[in-house]
Amino acid sequence: MKEYNLRKVRIYTGNDVLELLLENLIENSYSQVIILVDENTEKLCLPMLDKYLFNTKIIKIKSGEQQKTLEIAQYIWNELMRFNTSKNSVLLNLGGGVIGDIGGFCAATFKRGLDFINIPTTLLAMIDASIGGKTGIDFNGVKNTIGIITDPKAIYIYPDFLNSLPKEEMINGFAEVIKHALIVDVDLWEKLKKVDVFESQKLNSIINDNIKIKIKIVAKDPFEQNERKLLNFGHTIGHAIESYSLKHDQKPLKHGEAIAIGMICEAFLSREMIDLSNKELRSLSEYILRFFPKYSFKSILSPDLIGFMYHDKKNIGEEINFTLLKRIGKGSVNHVCTEHQIARALNYYDSL
Ligand SMILES: NC(=O)c1ccc[n+]([C@@H]2O[C@H](COP(=O)([O-])OP(=O)(O)OC[C@H]3O[C@@H](n4cnc5c(N)ncnc54)[C@H](O)[C@@H]3O)[C@@H](O)[C@H]2O)c1
Ligand SMILES: [Zn+2]
Repeated sequence: MKEYNLRKVRIYTGNDVLELLLENLIENSYSQVIILVDENTEKLCLPMLDKYLFNTKIIKIKSGEQQKTLEIAQYIWNELMRFNTSKNSVLLNLGGGVIGDIGGFCAATFKRGLDFINIPTTLLAMIDASIGGKTGIDFNGVKNTIGIITDPKAIYIYPDFLNSLPKEEMINGFAEVIKHALIVDVDLWEKLKKVDVFESQKLNSIINDNIKIKIKIVAKDPFEQNERKLLNFGHTIGHAIESYSLKHDQKPLKHGEAIAIGMICEAFLSREMIDLSNKELRSLSEYILRFFPKYSFKSILSPDLIGFMYHDKKNIGEEINFTLLKRIGKGSVNHVCTEHQIARALNYYDSL
């Protein structure tokens, strides 16, 4: 087992962390343990917790980004009321980033704050979403509009949950691994290019590398004043594409799939505006397209898509703010790009 500290949050990772979870729950003598699941984590992950926990209450929501809404948050608060949840209870978020984001938000706002613990079950949540305290919901179709930054009590990362995760969800999470390498870790980038990233030994070591990267960045800058903005690489255009796809597509893009497109577009902007070389742009575009098939836009510069970018939380005033790459392994924050430049970036992606 490995243990990390992020402020007061203890982060445990390894295949013996579930025993420890039980010990820690007992130590804290919570009056009630409530577990938030979706239908997949209820079926595939909850049974692994069952032998360690007793007397729990379950709140179940449907899976998917479409559930990260105020209506579902209200359902969760209602369930907490129905269980007579007191301040001395704890909510366990057992699931991917959707469960973690909405569960953390509901816990943090219920009776002005219940303890919550993240038990991520997707690759994306293990290496990214569960760490760093960002919680929230989408609002009026715009990603993560309502929410707060608040830390869980602890995070238990149990890699064996990934055994049941579908390959497409593994690839979805892998987008954030690629992002970490591109913004801060050229050695990780070289490693990714050389190995079979989903082979289990390699994957475990990649998970650890990425947990450390995320912890290091958010430890320095919890409220995203500066360094944490590095993590937004690919996300200005990526979040807009994700919101756009949620609105227009029958089978919307997953978060990682949208971010993959965003990273290629924002790497193009990096070549246009700062120092990223053509060779690096080509190499990272090819690598990303190996995992993420091309998405075809119905119309490249729909007013919707740009509209979503203007709603981005990272903006200051009326300008659309970007994190770009100086080179592979070196991100650079606070760049403003025009609509014209963004259109050129989307066209670059479309032309690949
Ligand atoms: N808070 C943050 O810092 C942060 C960072 C990155 C992403 N996010 C958010 O995370 C969300 C995406 O998270 P996600 O990709 O984990 O999606 P998700 O929570 O929708 O999970 C993906 C799918 O996998 C299923 N699943 C989960 N664990 C499983 C398992 N072990 N076996 C089989 N199926 C399993 C889920 O039921 C779901 O169908 C987005 O809403 C994004 O905005 C938040
Ligand atoms: Zn992301």
